[in-house]
Amino acid sequence: MLIKKASDIKSSEVTARELYLNRRQFILAASATALSATALFNGIDSPFSPSPAMAGAKLNNVRKGPFGTTEKQNSFKDITSYNNFYELGTDKGDPAENAKYLTTRPWTVSVEGEVKKAKTYDIDELIKIAPLEERIYRLRCVEAWSMVIPWVGFPLNSLVKLAEPTGNAKYIQFITLQDPKRMPGQRYAALQWPYVEGLRMDEAMHPLTILAVGLYGEVLPAQNGAPIRLVVPWKYGFKSIKSIVKVRFVEKQPPASWNIMQPQEYGFYSNVNPEVDHPRWSQATERRIGEFFRRKTLMFNGYGEQVASLYSGMDLKKYY
Ligand code: MTE
Repeated sequence: MLIKKASDIKSSEVTARELYLNRRQFILAASATALSATALFNGIDSPFSPSPAMAGAKLNNVRKGPFGTTEKQNSFKDITSYNNFYELGTDKGDPAENAKYLTTRPWTVSVEGEVKKAKTYDIDELIKIAPLEERIYRLRCVEAWSMVIPWVGFPLNSLVKLAEPTGNAKYIQFITLQDPKRMPGQRYAALQWPYVEGLRMDEAMHPLTILAVGLYGEVLPAQNGAPIRLVVPWKYGFKSIKSIVKVRFVEKQPPASWNIMQPQEYGFYSNVNPEVDHPRWSQATERRIGEFFRRKTLMFNGYGEQVASLYSGMDLKKYY
């Protein structure tokens, strides 16, 4: 299964993006970037005018939520200008630059599949189903960098309870918007679109798992996954799917974008695990954005006390 150990590759030989993409995909993405994400996307006229009233608007009645870390939070600038959101471009700065295309009203989220109460929610109704909480979580990206982010959101389990899953619902699949006008990166095959992700039902019900609609007390900027994105803090960042339009309850383990792309590199579970290297690099340490020295990566990203029991008896090397 292992392709090349991280120890075989000098860090100077790879860039963060090369780490992420295999050579063929890298060339494909590079050719798109060569035209320059900005020049490329400039050719697209958004049918909607940007809605500045959204991103940056203050969220009211946000209470302090549980599980918050006291570690130093990354700055608003770090969190909103160093992003992975391939629908808005493959460079870290692209999503902020192309955020203007991703208009988030009108927006609906369809809750469907193995549930008694299937429903299409208007986003403004959805964000009121549970009190908003601030959750200060570590986010550990599979590329071995991390941040501390003060999200605003509500537990996913409040939506699951409203949907009343049937006995057949064993997993939840999440699906991102597909609209190349609002997501210009979807004009290129960097990934298979739309972006999809999934959780096992007990992971979805876990009180740490939230749907985030804001950060730093404000409406979520588009580049961070507006208007609503998943946050699963004990898993690598790619599980935290952005700009969700469908939440589908299913019986079988659903497909997940990075797993489809590179199954030997990205598993379904994707729990942060310093003991299981990515085939091409080590996961033992990470660079906290804004810090100079590397830190040790913590098992389950430091949330082991809360979530380790979900995986008792499972071989985490096999189920990576
Ligand atoms: N969701 C979608 N739809 N598209 C993406 O490219 N990137 C993932 C995840 N969610 C991604 C996504 C990855 S790799 C990471 S690390 C996190 O979003 C980054 O979230 P942030 O930009 O808010 O820090």
